[in-house]
Amino acid sequence: LDKQRFQNDLLNWYDQEKRDLPWRKERDPYRIWVSEIMLQQTKVDTVIPYFYNFMDKFPTLEKLAEAEEEEVLKAWEGLGYYSRARNLHTAVKEVKEFYNGQVPDTEDEIKKLRGVGPYTAGAILSIAYNVPAPAVDGNVMRVLSRIFTIYDDISKVSVRKKFEEIVRETIAADRASDFNQAMMELGATVCTPRSPACLLCPVQQHCEAREEGVQEILPVKAKK
Ligand code: ADE
Repeated sequence: LDKQRFQNDLLNWYDQEKRDLPWRKERDPYRIWVSEIMLQQTKVDTVIPYFYNFMDKFPTLEKLAEAEEEEVLKAWEGLGYYSRARNLHTAVKEVKEFYNGQVPDTEDEIKKLRGVGPYTAGAILSIAYNVPAPAVDGNVMRVLSRIFTIYDDISKVSVRKKFEEIVRETIAADRASDFNQAMMELGATVCTPRSPACLLCPVQQHCEAREEGVQEILPVKAKK
């Protein structure tokens, strides 16, 4: 992979095509955090109205930390996976108490927060603080498995870690936020699970799977 050209092609596309999403307007780590938790099991279009409503009710980390759990769950109603809301509430209280209300900006500290796994940690660090940390979810694994023709089973933790190492090697050091979001965006809109739009793909010349015609059979995921 020609890393420099790959980064340029990806980021130029993102600059032109990125969707105008409410959590992309500013870099408040708290807002980024809420958005990433909501987006974990829920589609962008569904999340948007919930995100606005949640920010209306709990505009700051402090406000959320001080809220009753019942209110928080009420604002989550309809999104499902309520443990996400409970964990977020718990973690925000931890940040208020132990970090003076400032969301930590290092991988070690942020991963200690309740409900903040490797993906969420990397997403917050990169999007809010521009720290070059990997944010590897299913979309990103699909994109990378195709670019590098990786046939490993993406449901394995060891394989996710391998993808994280690849991102550490590939990420644009000074544009970590845009790089990670561009990878997510590419997976969501172009490099889709079925019938990926390779002809529209900004990094088609860098993609081994496209060259070999195997994009439709990647990534490999063991049946449950
Ligand atoms: N899915 C998960 N995180 C996202 C983000 N920041 N933007 C768009 N889609 C996402």
